[in-house]
Amino acid sequence: MTIAVSLPAADKTEWWCKMLGDLMPDWEITPFDKVTDPAKVTYAVVWRPATGQMAKFPNLKAIVSIGAGIDHVLDDHEVPRHVPIIRTVGTDLTQRMKEYVALHVLRHHRRLPDLQASQAQSKWEAIIVPPATERRVGVMGLGNLGAAAAQLLSTIGFQTVGWSRSPKDVPGVTTYSGSDGFGEFLEGTEILVCLLPLTDSTRGIMDANVFNRLKRGASIINAARGPHLVDGDLLLALESGQISHATLDVFHVEPLPSEHPFWAHSRITVTPHVASMIDAPTGSKIIARNIRIFEETGTVPDLADVERGY
Ligand code: NAP
Ligand code: GLV
Repeated sequence: MTIAVSLPAADKTEWWCKMLGDLMPDWEITPFDKVTDPAKVTYAVVWRPATGQMAKFPNLKAIVSIGAGIDHVLDDHEVPRHVPIIRTVGTDLTQRMKEYVALHVLRHHRRLPDLQASQAQSKWEAIIVPPATERRVGVMGLGNLGAAAAQLLSTIGFQTVGWSRSPKDVPGVTTYSGSDGFGEFLEGTEILVCLLPLTDSTRGIMDANVFNRLKRGASIINAARGPHLVDGDLLLALESGQISHATLDVFHVEPLPSEHPFWAHSRITVTPHVASMIDAPTGSKIIARNIRIFEETGTVPDLADVERGY
């Protein structure tokens, strides 16, 4: 019984192997490139695995994504689609995302980038903003992360609206669903937060069409996946003033290439995919528990729907 582990960096792979090994002494836990008998591998624990690697394990019972998204697993078209994919989620991941969203929504709401620009010129420029109760914030995606973040924003006092595929009830949040509810959700929104999974229906969702439906001068926060955003449309919307600022944690190519215009843009804040990354000490406990439950019952609550893509 082998669990094979793969992350893009070898030291991170070793770290996760060590943490999982301490919790699962009955299992052989090994990096992908050190697997000696591929037929013995029954679980693959992965973050952005190289294409074709998992297809070498003929007896996989499940693939474990080190994180909430499964797009990085489905990017590998050689992975057999019948193999279940287990997401790694929990209070730690949700807490970190709540912190990130609250930090950046408040920063846009209180126009901190403008205050910092004034400070850089030793300029005393009092910018008075309305209270949060007069600011409409929209959260796209009301799953584990989106619902928790939206609820927190509502507790702070924001007029909070949320949008999901199916109807949802989130305390303090006015919710909309499906393509029918999208226009109403966007109308009057001044800060738009993306916490959607990356699927064929959500790719490129943050484009000129959406920007034009937000209130003029709105801000956007993308903490989901880079391909949700049409980069060129954002640059044009910033130039025209339709969008005033963007905080981006995720990008089409990561690490963001050094020549990318986002790096030096005065109205874009770049963070290096740190909104909510699960670490090995916490994540390995969740993964060990999920694998044990999956071994006993053949399922876990955090199973992704591979057909749906999340
Ligand atoms: P989740 O629990 O699966 O929730 C996804 C939400 O998106 C659900 O509310 C779902 O609607 C909605 N949705 C899916 N497709 C939609 C569509 N076509 N139209 C409207 N709504 C749609 O996911 P999660 O755990 O909250 O995570 C969300 C994403 O955040 C992940 O997939 C990942 O890409 C990203 N993430 C980023 C970081 C980071 O550090 N930057 C960290 C963790 C996760 P239903 O409720 O109707 O199904
Ligand atoms: C991080 O991006 C995740 O999907 O958990």
